Amino acid sequence: MLLSLDNLTISFKSETESLQAVKGVSLQIASSEILGLVGESGSGKTVLASSLLGMVESPSRIESGNIIFNLSTGSVFLTKLPERSWQDIRGKHISMIFQDPMNALNPARTIGSQFLEAIHIHKPQLDRANAVRLAVDMLDRVWLNKPVDLLPRYPFELSGGMRQRVMIAMALVHEPQLLIADEPTTALDVTVQAQILDILLDLRQRINMAILFISHDLAVVGSIADRIAVMHDGEIVETGQTSDILENPQHEYTKKLLWAAPSF
Ligand SMILES: Nc1ncnc2c1ncn2[C@@H]1O[C@H](COP(=O)(O)OP(=O)(O)OP(=O)(O)O)[C@@H](O)[C@H]1O
Ligand SMILES: [Mg+2]
Repeated sequence: MLLSLDNLTISFKSETESLQAVKGVSLQIASSEILGLVGESGSGKTVLASSLLGMVESPSRIESGNIIFNLSTGSVFLTKLPERSWQDIRGKHISMIFQDPMNALNPARTIGSQFLEAIHIHKPQLDRANAVRLAVDMLDRVWLNKPVDLLPRYPFELSGGMRQRVMIAMALVHEPQLLIADEPTTALDVTVQAQILDILLDLRQRINMAILFISHDLAVVGSIADRIAVMHDGEIVETGQTSDILENPQHEYTKKLLWAAPSF
């Protein structure tokens, strides 16, 4: 298994109350597998995803359980990793794309300068000309026209779909083994959404990466995932092959999500 979550519990603590956003979740993702994580708003999907990037920050904390990431060089216990070691993992072995790329891109800096910095973090030996070549190649792979012309532009000069493609290109430049895509297409119209899903499927094959694809939309998840995990109120209530979940859901909550999905 590439990634194993073992009985993971993440809680938020305030002075007055404590809330468990993730409750004893166990999940596994195999190499190059697409696992869909589906559940309604507030079910704990993003909190779970943030733990896979070492971004569980106060007032939240990992209360118990383990996250084990199996690299070719050995197993890493992500739950016990100090921040300086996270810097070797984040962006290199595990990457993330977000629902709204405006939040992830710096509005005050050009696409080119942000892209070159993302390359430099894990490939400091690459000279500028080669780094530019790599950025252009990645932008080309996500079907952006005239990628060279995009480098001097600012995020606000691009459409939402273009920004999302830039984010994907940046997230995948180091060919991570695992991509976490948290609602990557929710803000996009249906046509662009379909293109982004195609891009993810294409890149998954080319670089052999696994994807944790998060969405509240079972129809979208069903169109891309090999397996689906259904999250409800911090717990995984059902996991199975995509066709089994869609055609023969066992849990009442999964049935409810299916009824709510327009395409089924
Ligand atoms: N910073 C925070 N402080 C306190 N509670 C939080 C914080 N962030 C999230 N939560 C709580 O954790 C729970 C899970 O939130 P999370 O963001 O993971 O939901 P989600 O499934 O990603 O929802 P959505 O589909 O809307 O993105 C919610 O009950 C939320 O209120
Ligand atoms: Mg979320």
